[in-house]
Amino acid sequence: MRSEAANGGPAAPEQPIPGDSQPDPGDSRAGRDGGRRPPLEAILLVGGQGTRLRPLTVDRPKQLVPCAGAPFLAHQLARAAASGITRVVLATCFRAELFAEAFGDGSGLGLELDYVEETVPLGTGGGIRNAAAALRSGPDDPVVVLNGDLLSGHDLSAQLDMHSKAEAAVTLHLEEVPDPSRFGCVPTDDDGRVTAFLEKTPNPVTNRVNAGCYVFRRRVIDQIPAGTVVSVERETFPALIAAGEVVMGYAETAYWLDVGTPEAFVQGSRDLVRGALSSAALPGRCGEALALPGARVDPAATVTGGTVVGAACVVEAAARVDGSILMDGATVAAGATVRDSIVGAGARIGPEVILDAAVIGDGAEIMAGNELRCGARVWPGVRLSPTAIRFSTDA
Ligand code: GTP
Repeated sequence: MRSEAANGGPAAPEQPIPGDSQPDPGDSRAGRDGGRRPPLEAILLVGGQGTRLRPLTVDRPKQLVPCAGAPFLAHQLARAAASGITRVVLATCFRAELFAEAFGDGSGLGLELDYVEETVPLGTGGGIRNAAAALRSGPDDPVVVLNGDLLSGHDLSAQLDMHSKAEAAVTLHLEEVPDPSRFGCVPTDDDGRVTAFLEKTPNPVTNRVNAGCYVFRRRVIDQIPAGTVVSVERETFPALIAAGEVVMGYAETAYWLDVGTPEAFVQGSRDLVRGALSSAALPGRCGEALALPGARVDPAATVTGGTVVGAACVVEAAARVDGSILMDGATVAAGATVRDSIVGAGARIGPEVILDAAVIGDGAEIMAGNELRCGARVWPGVRLSPTAIRFSTDA
């Protein structure tokens, strides 16, 4: 059988999709024995507006946008469970109610979930402080804090070990990136102790950056001012370093991706489908494509590059879909090309349309002969007349 869907139903594409045959060796489902593991709490920050992902985030949080056949957050939670986390407090704000609807008590993922809502956005530090009200950890226990837009394959146990051996206030996961100017730049000394925290500086002194996974000593969270907007990146970390507290940097070069932009989001989906990073929440086996239940792919269509074909999607003859996300109920007509793009739920892509690195909102209709490239974004429900936009001649 191709796959077992998140809702338990089998996927039923019209044709076998090339390469979709190997089991994912990293799919340990280690989180399913949650009750027998030592308790380890986490706060997951999911309260942001996700503006860089609009229009996908017009009416849903970034963490609930479908990625590799499941809401993005399902992958993060599955990996959290597999890393030994037993209980997660979700720090929600924008469209807070949608999280509990999607994940309930978390038992399906082998986790205990709790939800805390900010009535106004409190920023990263304020959100962590607000969520701490729901923690059960003692003052010196480690609490993992995760940004809710990351895919990471790093070794959380090793990060926790460094934290406890150094008796640190906070231990940050650091990754090396080619362009550190878009991130928090974090130099360390030879022992791994953080010497500065330079958020989004134009002159980075190292290419090691804040990778958005922190281990906090619980009492340090309680020292963040309550009920006010605080940034951990701009205020809490620099203040701890200035006060001489032990802040450690755990550097690793494992798979890591910040999925905050459409380009990165679709890359994350591709990587999960192809197995570059394993996820117990992937509703099927790794391969060149993943088709969800009820998806219909014409035998004369080509679907490749880690594409997801959502439930009840239709891909017609001679269409080519590569490295893309087709959300549930989307249709791609005959002869269309969709590459590195995200097509929203129920959106319709007409005959001979070309999409390349485009984002199409839910329910939009791109009629025949349009050509959208280079990060073009179409808002939900919009209808583009035939050949309304081209990047080349229509000859
Ligand atoms: P952009 O608007 O596209 O920058 O995305 P974002 O709103 O998610 O902001 P950013 O990527 O900087 O946020 C990093 C993480 O912190 C994400 O998981 C956000 O959901 C979360 N976050 C950002 N601001 C807040 C906040 O005020 N409260 C809470 N609880 N979480 C937040």
